[in-house]
Amino acid sequence: MDMEMYLKVAKDAAFQAGTMLKQHSSTPPKIHYKGAVDLVTDFDNRAQDMIFKSLSNHFPEHDFLAEENLSEEKGSDFCWIIDPIDGTTNYAHNFPVFCVSIAMAFENEIKLGVIYDPMREEMFMAVKDKGAVLNDKPIHVSSVRELDKSLLATGFPYDLRESRVNNFDHFLNFATRVQGIRRGGAAALDLCYVACGRFDGFWELKLQPWDVAAGRVIVLEAGGQVSDFRNSEPGLSGDEILATNSLIHEQMVNILGSSLD
Ligand code: IPD
Ligand code: CA
Ligand code: CA
Repeated sequence: MDMEMYLKVAKDAAFQAGTMLKQHSSTPPKIHYKGAVDLVTDFDNRAQDMIFKSLSNHFPEHDFLAEENLSEEKGSDFCWIIDPIDGTTNYAHNFPVFCVSIAMAFENEIKLGVIYDPMREEMFMAVKDKGAVLNDKPIHVSSVRELDKSLLATGFPYDLRESRVNNFDHFLNFATRVQGIRRGGAAALDLCYVACGRFDGFWELKLQPWDVAAGRVIVLEAGGQVSDFRNSEPGLSGDEILATNSLIHEQMVNILGSSLD
């Protein structure tokens, strides 16, 4: 499998879409509501179209799954999983924390991930078994061993007004045990920041495959650990994700477990 070729195509598509998003980042976007606080802008669709066109031109026989109602199942062993803007609420408010996320799975295993943050011009990439890079330089998770000295990241689900499974319990449990918790609003970037050691750990629930697919391989290839809240294989759903530098993983599992039935 020519991973270098897949990586280059994914990188170019992420760069192109990210650059378009940056150019328009202060243009007020047209906003549509998928739910009370779940937005989509015209730029989500525009970025998705650009990425899909570029990838499907190169790989017309592959499957595709992307956030804005795009699911092409042709029975291929290859599937591209795309979030055209991770951090749409930020983008809509001109809060400069968002990214483009592209992953490729082969036989349901993520083989590569590319996440591009156009505002900081940071390109995170990983290929399975080949390590992770930020702007072509190898990255590694942090070496913090104690939760007490850790900086964590998390997020809250879009149904937090209706559902009691809203992450507030876990947030409270962690808040008094760590140095700080950030809610940046772009899960894919949270994962990249674990991979390059800016965060020591990240947990979130009710995410989707496109939020976590690329970030997950980037964390693993940077030496981190990824699981669900019970420390089992998380699958591709995004339902529960815990990603850490591996050193604080068990400590985080113990705290997450204290709220689980
Ligand atoms: C969202 C972001 C956010 C997370 C949400 C996601 P979107 O993705 O990753 O950080 O808390 O749950 O859905 O909607 O901006 O692509
Ligand atoms: Ca997302
Ligand atoms: Ca999105």
